[in-house]
Amino acid sequence: MNSNEVALVTGGNKGIGHEIVRQLATRGFTVYLGARNPALGLAAAEELAGSDVRFVQLDVTDVASVQAAVEHIEADSGRLDVLINNAGIVSEWGTKVPDITAAQVRTAYDVNVFGVITTTQAGIPLLRQSPNARIVNMSSGLGSVNLLSDLDGRLNTQGLLAYSSSKAALNALTLLYAGALRPDGIKVNAATPGLVPTDLNTEATVDRGQRTPADGAVVPVLLATIPADGPTGVFRGPSALDEVALW
Ligand SMILES: NC(=O)c1ccc[n+]([C@@H]2O[C@H](COP(=O)([O-])OP(=O)(O)OC[C@H]3O[C@@H](n4cnc5c(N)ncnc54)[C@H](OP(=O)(O)O)[C@@H]3O)[C@@H](O)[C@H]2O)c1
Repeated sequence: MNSNEVALVTGGNKGIGHEIVRQLATRGFTVYLGARNPALGLAAAEELAGSDVRFVQLDVTDVASVQAAVEHIEADSGRLDVLINNAGIVSEWGTKVPDITAAQVRTAYDVNVFGVITTTQAGIPLLRQSPNARIVNMSSGLGSVNLLSDLDGRLNTQGLLAYSSSKAALNALTLLYAGALRPDGIKVNAATPGLVPTDLNTEATVDRGQRTPADGAVVPVLLATIPADGPTGVFRGPSALDEVALW
């Protein structure tokens, strides 16, 4: 049990993020369920009534809301041990690679890349005070440059120019934060949940997978609960911590 420890999960109102909130709360964390829409966030926290789950308004594209959320956590709990950068979007469903615009790519990067940087930067001062700080970034096999290098493979031919490249960028910044924050004892790792049919991938033409949100939450929760001498700068999943995902 991780009693007294405090976690923040972005995009916690539904999908895999909501399951991460539930599983961390079950392990004894105080969990701040970050959601951009207050009505959805409050309702999602209400679903987990009985555990220590607290809604906090947070839109990762809105620097002021992220800063306010972290200030609220500091005032309310005085600590932050775990940050899960879970919020993510796909912005180009239905558009073929040559037709995807820079604006579509920018929309995805605003959440999947710049949103992660905004939230991480805001969280670092509190995380530095934790005896065992952990950041988990929700990545994807679609962000694996290794897997994308098979031009005929499923991941390349899916043609998600914005999403795949945003998750590749996320993988790179996971490693850069891991190196830079190692002297502070902050571990930074990436997880892939596998294919989970959620509101993220409603496109009928792609394989949406058959994993449940609970399945997808397993590895991010394991990375969120590693001990102080646990790994940093690793990419794991989708089912177990000893599975090594391809960068
Ligand atoms: N599902 C899969 O197969 C799969 C595979 C690999 C990786 N992933 C990754 O897993 C993570 C969770 O995805 P999911 O499948 O659970 O998707 P989901 O059900 O669509 O949930 C996405 C969450 O992100 C939130 N969000 C979007 N934009 C946001 C913003 N600007 N600020 C704050 N929150 C925002 C959404 O809030 P709203 O409800 O307000 O939109 C929602 O809570 C994502 O990073 C995704 O890339 C998923």
